[in-house]
Amino acid sequence: MMKIDILTLFPGMFKGPFEESIIKRAVENGILDIRIHNFREFAPGRHHHVDDYSYGGGEGMVLKCEPVFNAVEALKEPGQKLIFLTPQGRKFNQAVAGELAAEKSLMFFCGHYEGFDERLREALADDEISIGDYVLTGGELPAMVIVDALARRLPGVLGSAAAAHEDSFSEGLLEYPHYTRPADFRGLKVPEVLLNGNHAEIRRWRL
Ligand code: ADE
Repeated sequence: MMKIDILTLFPGMFKGPFEESIIKRAVENGILDIRIHNFREFAPGRHHHVDDYSYGGGEGMVLKCEPVFNAVEALKEPGQKLIFLTPQGRKFNQAVAGELAAEKSLMFFCGHYEGFDERLREALADDEISIGDYVLTGGELPAMVIVDALARRLPGVLGSAAAAHEDSFSEGLLEYPHYTRPADFRGLKVPEVLLNGNHAEIRRWRL
């Protein structure tokens, strides 16, 4: 079982993506253990402030150190990697998904607002990942993208046929075109080679 902790100020964002389809089944089958934590709960004081003005000026609020340090100190297990999601991180791809899928447990920190206190990165980040060269409002969507991509690499999450296919995709083969019934849909025809049952020919066509 792979354990994933997510630190976020917006736990509700994860409801849809993690409570449907394949991720939902992986959780139900005990392959994935996903825990969403609102780190506002770790902010001291009656108002649980998580952000404050930027030293040196400038508009926009900055995420404070204390709530995140508290959350990490309360939740992080020995050996668990803490990954920061930022547009400056190393670029996510299928190889990184495979790398992360080999871990026993991961923690994701979803930043928000204009930024977070630099000391969080210095003291806490084991890794920093970007899902692409564009700026999102927070790390929540990137965390969902990464969890989805690594979940489907975990043994037992996909059916065995799909998993075998996934192996070939991981080796860099391009996806081939798929067709299903009917063989003729409004005059749009399935390639003849796929209908004749010659598996050697079909393999060659797919390559
Ligand atoms: N946070 C904001 N934008 C991001 C991106 N592109 N990747 C990861 N985290 C982010």
